[in-house]
Amino acid sequence: MMVSEKRAFVQLLSLYLFIQFSVTAAKFFEPFNVTYDHRALIIDGKRRMLISAGIHYPRATPQMWPDLIAKSKEGGADVIESYTFWNGHEPVRGQYTFEGRFDLVKFVKLVGDSGLYFLLRIGPYVCAEWNFGGFPVWLRDVPGIEFRTDNEPFKREMQRFVTKIVDLLREEKLFSWQGGPIILLQIENEYGNMERSYGQKGKDYVKWAANMALGLRAGVPWVMCKQTDAPGDIIDTCNDYYCDGYKPNSPNKPTIWTENWDGWYTSWGGRLPHRPVEDLAFAIARFFQRGGSLMNYYMYFGGTNFGRTSGGPFYITSYDYDAPIDEYGLLSEPKWGHLKDLHAAIRLCEPALVAADLPRYMKLGPKQEAHLYWANIQTNGLNNTLSESQSVCSAFLANIDEHKAATVTFRGKSYTLPPWSVSILPDCRNTAFNTAKVGAQTSVKLVEHALSPKISVPELVMTKNEVSSIPESWMSVNEPIGIWSVNNFTFQGMLEHLNVTKDESDYLWHMTRIYVSDEDITFWEENQVSPTLVIDSMRDVLRVFINGQLTGSVSGHWVKVVQPVQFQQGYSDLILLSQTVGLQNYGAFLEKDGAGFRGQIKLTGFKNGDIDLSKLSWTYQVGLKGEFQKIFTIEENEKAGWTKLKRDATPSTFTWYKAYFDAPDGKEPVAFDLGSMGKGQAWVNGHHIGRYWNLVAPKDGCSKSCDYRGAYNPNKCMTNCGKPTQSWYYLHWKRTTYRGHGYRQQTIYL
Ligand SMILES: *[C@@H]1O[C@H](CO)[C@@H](O)[C@H](O)[C@H]1NC(C)=O
Ligand SMILES: *[C@@H]1O[C@H](CO)[C@@H](O)[C@H](O)[C@H]1NC(C)=O
Ligand SMILES: *[C@@H]1O[C@H](CO)[C@@H](O)[C@H](O)[C@H]1NC(C)=O
Ligand SMILES: *[C@@H]1O[C@H](CO)[C@@H](O)[C@H](O)[C@H]1NC(C)=O
Repeated sequence: MMVSEKRAFVQLLSLYLFIQFSVTAAKFFEPFNVTYDHRALIIDGKRRMLISAGIHYPRATPQMWPDLIAKSKEGGADVIESYTFWNGHEPVRGQYTFEGRFDLVKFVKLVGDSGLYFLLRIGPYVCAEWNFGGFPVWLRDVPGIEFRTDNEPFKREMQRFVTKIVDLLREEKLFSWQGGPIILLQIENEYGNMERSYGQKGKDYVKWAANMALGLRAGVPWVMCKQTDAPGDIIDTCNDYYCDGYKPNSPNKPTIWTENWDGWYTSWGGRLPHRPVEDLAFAIARFFQRGGSLMNYYMYFGGTNFGRTSGGPFYITSYDYDAPIDEYGLLSEPKWGHLKDLHAAIRLCEPALVAADLPRYMKLGPKQEAHLYWANIQTNGLNNTLSESQSVCSAFLANIDEHKAATVTFRGKSYTLPPWSVSILPDCRNTAFNTAKVGAQTSVKLVEHALSPKISVPELVMTKNEVSSIPESWMSVNEPIGIWSVNNFTFQGMLEHLNVTKDESDYLWHMTRIYVSDEDITFWEENQVSPTLVIDSMRDVLRVFINGQLTGSVSGHWVKVVQPVQFQQGYSDLILLSQTVGLQNYGAFLEKDGAGFRGQIKLTGFKNGDIDLSKLSWTYQVGLKGEFQKIFTIEENEKAGWTKLKRDATPSTFTWYKAYFDAPDGKEPVAFDLGSMGKGQAWVNGHHIGRYWNLVAPKDGCSKSCDYRGAYNPNKCMTNCGKPTQSWYYLHWKRTTYRGHGYRQQTIYL
């Protein structure tokens, strides 16, 4: 069990030299229209087969965006996809933010500048392993609100935000018909999974959401994912590991895969999931083989959950996702390279794929089949008159046998297909690509781990076997236990955690006073019982203090608490510190989910019966003192009264640390190894790099080798058993080089 909770912040001095990427005025393309038919999106009059790369703009920094977009393009993407993040854009009702990592317009413009299209999934519920599924926490406080159903207050708020986004994009001329890159929009998100919980009101809500979206006159098609009853012109789309069997709800709509799960997320104390690229390529080839037309990687780059944006319960700060571009913005090989080859092969087939209305199916064996796309097409003559007719032919040969290779005959020629693989024949004769034959180079890019230093301080790690330890300059300051400001208030009874914190902090202190008589003590001694704190249900972390001493810690998601406690005769301060570790992002009735405690909360084992704690008077305090004083910023840090940390110091339950360090040379990404720390949050240059928590994954459940064959599930091909789920925290900031200011010294505060 983790007792010491440490908080960290890291600061780099003299970092004001960020390169601003100039964004040209809108006008990326000539204006073009987007429509669709049963086969594909029709872009500027032509059907297209499209590869889309999911990148969530706030999970990277603006400094990283151009490189990520360039690497997506080089990898063969035609489209960049993202959600919008309502709670990032409207942290306070009516006060919008579109700056820094939330500069949606800049991100879309960069995509357009690079010649790629954009798919924006507005939601505004987005799930996304993002705090509260993207909903601002203030939304809970709108009177009478029920989320994601036929509820007037919710619909009013949702419409206001979606309208705001669409209007902004239109003003910035970012839609295709304005010469911008946006070709497709999404309303809602996987509501089909929840609809039944809402009965008829759910069905009415779907119709309302569709009409509302169409009414905004964005001028491009809309999709709803996992929504088999998507009405009218809205295209229902597939999210899954495999979508090759997917059929939209109308023969006039194209088959679109909005989320191809190329990896998975993980929780504190979880293993790390990996999806083998051979299986991923198989799934994609099968999708295009069987009539699919647009596939989006969820994620092409996963990135980082900075600050407290991570969803929950308990999702880690890294959102690497085992994506083709890793958390540090580096190519993850062989994944990226193999998929690039796949995209190139699909591109070669595009003329036939778009020309044929339907593939021709051929059974080649018990578990082998071919789909052939053939058509006569008219090609344009030099002076743009229809001049000649030419036939195009592309084929996909699949072996869906999980165990054995197969040799098949296709149009008189023999082909050997490895198990669970697809061969792509752009000319119906020659194999350009087989999904199971990985040609891309494997590059080992991760670092040697530095030996843990004796004192619990973080290491600075670079991703090329370079490790530099942070020097001797550690400072620390203890965080007070309990009530620390005049903003505290007293209330008779237990308040709901989020109702009090409004999620402005993970932390909520509750303090009350308990009287223990001589009789109680005698009762405990005679009966050999100890008083016990019993809470029916709580989330996510609870720490119990008596007279300032930590007595117990519990963590879990809506778990029962049975915590023995000890009191001395007389009055004692009982402090309950309730903490959230990422708000729920999935499920129905999110507005009711809340945090903190539920049900009965009492002290048992007293001579005169249980003490019902929910009837007592409690003093409440939101957050930590250092957090509210912002001692992690250059401006405010001196408020804290730092003292030099001694090597043999026993850390108190809550301690802030800071130190200075030299920025490493070179251009490699830098990460902090916080593996020697407990649980907390870290800041760099006043920038919140995320929560950390040194929880270890179970010892079992990992496989030494990973068999790509057969249907994937996230328990397959796990790694990292018995190791901390995350010990590296990406310092995503571009470092500046020394410019002759006397130091290259940087500051780390932890
Ligand atoms: C797009 O469609 C609209 C409405 O049909 C039409 O007025 C406009 O000219 C089209 N634009 C282009 C670039 O084809
Ligand atoms: C355009 O093509 C037609 C038919 O092939 C031909 O007769 C004509 O001379 C061409 N015009 C030009 C300007 O090349
Ligand atoms: C708690 O709030 C009260 C009332 O504002 C104030 O008098 C008291 O000093 C506060 N306690 C602390 C520890 O700041
Ligand atoms: C939270 O506050 C709202 C109104 O302020 C109230 O209606 C609701 O019951 C509270 N929730 C809980 C669980 O106490």
